[in-house]
Amino acid sequence: MSSVKLSDVLSAMSYALDLTEGQPQGHAARSCLIGMRLAEELRLPADERSDLFYALLMKDAGCSSNAARVSQLFGGNDQDAKRGLWERDWRKWREKIAYALEYTEPDGTLVERLRRFGVLALVVDAKSAFTYQHSDRVAAIAEAIAAEMALSDAARVRLRRAALLHDIGKLSVPNRILDKPGKLDEDEWTVVRTHPHFTYEILARVPVFSEFAYDASSHHERIDGRGYHRGVPGEALSQTARILAAADIFDALSAARPYRDAMPLDRVLGILHEGRGTHLCPLTVDALSAAVAKGTTFLPHGQAIRAADIAAAGR
Ligand SMILES: [Fe+2]
Ligand SMILES: [Fe+2]
Repeated sequence: MSSVKLSDVLSAMSYALDLTEGQPQGHAARSCLIGMRLAEELRLPADERSDLFYALLMKDAGCSSNAARVSQLFGGNDQDAKRGLWERDWRKWREKIAYALEYTEPDGTLVERLRRFGVLALVVDAKSAFTYQHSDRVAAIAEAIAAEMALSDAARVRLRRAALLHDIGKLSVPNRILDKPGKLDEDEWTVVRTHPHFTYEILARVPVFSEFAYDASSHHERIDGRGYHRGVPGEALSQTARILAAADIFDALSAARPYRDAMPLDRVLGILHEGRGTHLCPLTVDALSAAVAKGTTFLPHGQAIRAADIAAAGR
């Protein structure tokens, strides 16, 4: 950082502020987002980005005197939050994330809780430029599929929550891997493939999220049983898990990446159709195709997103 010019910092700052215009309230998420966009503009090394991410995320939760602020941030109960702080091993990042989840608006209305989910998803997505707004888009795509399949309201709520937090285990993957512009080597893939396991570990330990922990952590499973991280066959995958898998691949292919442009929609759908019955549940792929054919767009709807932001995020 010492060799960075002030003008670079200022231009990066204005860029980051532009990007965050219209984002929901949420101090940790905003700090995280701004900090990670700055890191990107300043081209900080991957290791420093990882350190910065965790520092920004948990800077208010490092000691018990900040419990009230943490509680306010996540909308929970101050006393419970303080007690929770002492019960955590703060050296472990999983503990930190589980803490944040557990005290997310425990008594809030459904709408309020869902808003907080969006903030948490924003934090997950902020870690890497590659995953910027990914969780939010996956939630929007999953909801479109659910509408086509006429899922019940309760199932849709569970699906949306699982979608917003499906990649929370990616917080365990170092930025040097997440942000690598080229192909990953075998060792790096091995690390990436652990992220659904950590999604499960985090969500399962928070009672209110445990009901969708298994589904959320099954988004890289395949209908033929050759997915990861459990490698279970289609019979073991719920409708929620199947929808998440399709929505996740759809967004991964259709979002622009630093090393390639966004794939055209018909090509994305072609790849999904090729995977019917092997990678993906045929009914789910058909429902997604039907939604696309109707002209459904999958902009995140938890926040006001400008098209320019999405384009910038996809670099
Ligand atoms: Fe994933
Ligand atoms: Fe994902």
